[in-house]
Amino acid sequence: MDLYSIMVLSAITISSSLILLLLLIGNKKKKEMNSMVPAVPGLPLIGNLLQLKAKKPHQTFAKWAETYGPIFSVKLGSSTMVVINSTELAKEAMVTRFSSISTRRPSNALTLLTSQKSIIAMADYGEYHKMAKRYILSAVLGAAAQKRNRGHRDILTENIVNFLYADIAGDSQSAVNLRKHFKNELFRLALMQALGKDIESIFVEELGVTMSKEEIFQVLVVDPMMGAIEVDWRDFFPYMRWVPNRSMEMKIHSMATRKRAITKALIMEQKKRIARGEKINCYLDYLVSEESTLTEEQLIALVWESIIETSDTTLVTSEWAMYELAKNPKFQDRLYQEILEVCGSEKIREEHLQQMPYLNAVFHETLRFHSPVPIIPPRYIHEDTQLGGYNVPAGTEITINLYACNMDKKDWDEPGVWNPERFLSSKYDQMDMYKTMAFGGGKRVCAGSLQAYLISCVAVGRFIQEFQWRLKEGELENVDTVQLTTHKLHPMQAYITPRESCVRK
Ligand code: HEM
Repeated sequence: MDLYSIMVLSAITISSSLILLLLLIGNKKKKEMNSMVPAVPGLPLIGNLLQLKAKKPHQTFAKWAETYGPIFSVKLGSSTMVVINSTELAKEAMVTRFSSISTRRPSNALTLLTSQKSIIAMADYGEYHKMAKRYILSAVLGAAAQKRNRGHRDILTENIVNFLYADIAGDSQSAVNLRKHFKNELFRLALMQALGKDIESIFVEELGVTMSKEEIFQVLVVDPMMGAIEVDWRDFFPYMRWVPNRSMEMKIHSMATRKRAITKALIMEQKKRIARGEKINCYLDYLVSEESTLTEEQLIALVWESIIETSDTTLVTSEWAMYELAKNPKFQDRLYQEILEVCGSEKIREEHLQQMPYLNAVFHETLRFHSPVPIIPPRYIHEDTQLGGYNVPAGTEITINLYACNMDKKDWDEPGVWNPERFLSSKYDQMDMYKTMAFGGGKRVCAGSLQAYLISCVAVGRFIQEFQWRLKEGELENVDTVQLTTHKLHPMQAYITPRESCVRK
């Protein structure tokens, strides 16, 4: 073969190999495209932001799941978020793929409010997260700690019942506002558990003012809740972070500064007690004894976290449970029968709970129907992974829409109806705390589920044991919720009538 023929042959061989290679790459690309999570169509640049503006995102996502399936992606400005809407895929994300999906990338507001992710719920999974979660479980929320804190919970229920009696003492025909009492008592319990002391007021040196308990609640609980859902448009366009957003920055900065100053003042007050050698069983004393492992910022953030997390979701669950029972006399009567059978003339106690499947069912159905955290705080995918057979690249955010999981017709009969009796079926284990995923799952599962269960079940049981409940006129339509959470917008108003067999002494 001459040189020319060799050159032609080589050229043909090279070009045909090249064509084959291009075809192969093309096919692979096509395959990869096919295995990308389906995307909800949106607008250039802003993606789906406008579609999510007006409505509650968990409801909009559930609607989209009917068209795009249980897993889809949305564009929030320049970032992509994968939304999961089925229990099966949620478990895959929270458990099987946990190692690739364990970090958080909170909004600008949340980063500031949580002192750069220093709270357990916002920390990336790693040594600090594991250590801090161990601390809160050992000192406050684990089974042994909950046993030690039993007295605080007993007082909570007793006080609320007494306040309810006082409410109707003057006028038995007027409706009561359960939330007012529950909120105050839960906050008292939060302070007792965190600091070992209930506080009526505190002088905050950094702010130069004395704050009342009501003001402390506003700054430590209410403001950060609202601040956490403040939208900063730069969250959606990280490459524009350098553009100032002064009003937003000042608002969140002021919230974070006040919250930090008050928590620090509360801590300093108790540190004086500790220095006097007076130790109390509480989170602060435990953390101070471990202080060498924590910075001052971390100590302040962790104490604040335990206060805010104790004060909110348990109230949301208990208020909705009472709303549903006051609305449905049939379910209320059945629960009352169970209480009579199990407790007789004794006041309901935590020891009774294991023998009370109906009360358990009321708790879990309320978590399913009114999940206090309808969307699990987004997690960040830090290495390429797969979900539901789709490729999900590193850098994507992921969120689990618990509302859609709990309203899925494939898993639940008549999901749009509140019916605790669904949980009496033999397919559910009464003592399984995670029937609905309301507490999340896997290694980042809620640390406070036991406390929420104990407080909510005993309180709801006791309220039904003492009184017959009936919703005030107009309450049936009063079901709106606040923003991202399922916090009832207006406190429930109900008429209560003491039962003849009430156990109050
Ligand atoms: C009905 C009441 C409650 C509900 C529905 C609830 C729900 C949740 C959910 C959905 C998460 C996120 C889990 C995840 O990212 O996968 C969470 C995390 C957490 N919750 Fe709760 N919670 C409740 C009560 C409480 C209470 C009373 C505390 C007490 C302080 C608490 C402390 C925490 C902590 C520390 C985390 C972070 C866990 C971690 O990241 O490892 N929760 N909770």
